[in-house]
Amino acid sequence: MKKEFSVTPWDVTGEVDYDRLIKEFGTSLLSQNILSKLRSPHSLLKRGLYFSHRDFDLWLADAQSGKKVSILTGRGPSEKMHLGHLIPFLLAKSLQDAYNCNVYIPISEDEKFFVKKTLSFKDAKSFAEDNLLDILALGFRQSRTFVIKDFSYPHLYPQASQIAKLLTYSEAKAVFGLKPETNLGWTFYPAVQAAHILLPQFIEGAHKTLVPVGIDQDPFIRLTRDIATHSSLNFTKPAAIHSKFLPSLKGGAKMSSSDEENSLIYLSDSPEEIKKKINKYAFSGGKDTIEEHRKHGGNPDIDISFQYLKYLFEDDDKKLAKIEKDYRSGKLLSGELKTIAIEKINAFLKEHQVQREKAKKHVSEFMLK
Ligand code: TYM
Repeated sequence: MKKEFSVTPWDVTGEVDYDRLIKEFGTSLLSQNILSKLRSPHSLLKRGLYFSHRDFDLWLADAQSGKKVSILTGRGPSEKMHLGHLIPFLLAKSLQDAYNCNVYIPISEDEKFFVKKTLSFKDAKSFAEDNLLDILALGFRQSRTFVIKDFSYPHLYPQASQIAKLLTYSEAKAVFGLKPETNLGWTFYPAVQAAHILLPQFIEGAHKTLVPVGIDQDPFIRLTRDIATHSSLNFTKPAAIHSKFLPSLKGGAKMSSSDEENSLIYLSDSPEEIKKKINKYAFSGGKDTIEEHRKHGGNPDIDISFQYLKYLFEDDDKKLAKIEKDYRSGKLLSGELKTIAIEKINAFLKEHQVQREKAKKHVSEFMLK
């Protein structure tokens, strides 16, 4: 019997069956045929972390033929950021580089303030500032990147109101599982995120927008696509591309904030913390003893250090293939694989933390006026 799991924008539990999600959510599998058309695809695409989409092929066709396209993806700031949170922003940056398009980045302090019982108004605001630095550290092009913070951007309420009028409570309840005791802010929030998703079109007129997100965010996409073409808006349905969840160190389905701190790699972690976390907590596909490992080999498919190298830290296909082969054959030991991962993650974080410091001076240049 299949294990039960649940994926909503606010909670992911159980072992996620991604094929089943494609059917349940009504999305399409991201095919090799589409991927082969991309200009310099990111490892996240080539190596399968992105697995599903809605109209990505149509977005790509417009992007390839030089028509106006844009990208939008956001962050709900409830804590410091971990590696999993970077996934959609890494793809957005790589597509901006390839297609020279505008990227919109909404930061939804309101969402996390409404949803997280213990998160204060002040903390939601300060996590927004903190998280934005991690996002801007990725090097988005300043002239083509527009950030909005829901608590400081003054222009979102009119758009959210136009959307809210097209949605009924029972529709939102069906999509998001709202309950009678859900606070009013949370109940209204889906109109705000739909306004984010349509913001490029509110500002620049109808055109194709792509939303790269973890699959947990798809309910917002579905809802927004349903109303985008309403005669009062006349927009194009936004396209989306969905990723699986980057697992936590212990191998959980989603690298989520509810995991223990030790199971997550934070973008602010020091080299010593990374060394300790990987050595102590990263789930290994290696065998129990060196003798057994040499004889039977390890399993990279369940090894977290290997997964991180595959999706994020080893771009070179040949090098990755050699690591995989040596690990499967038993030539490469689990400890040695972990050492490679530690070095790569630390090199990435060192540069990230430098860029994050530099971003502090430039935040205001990115804010949508
Ligand atoms: P948030 O802040 O929970 O997460 C930010 C983005 O990161 C994705 N994500 C992951 N992806 C892969 N592996 C993981 N382990 C992992 N953990 C998180 C999430 O799916 C998300 O894409 N409501 C949104 C913020 C938002 C938004 C938007 C997103 C506001 N407006 C408009 C898209 C479009 C949120 O709370 O994401």
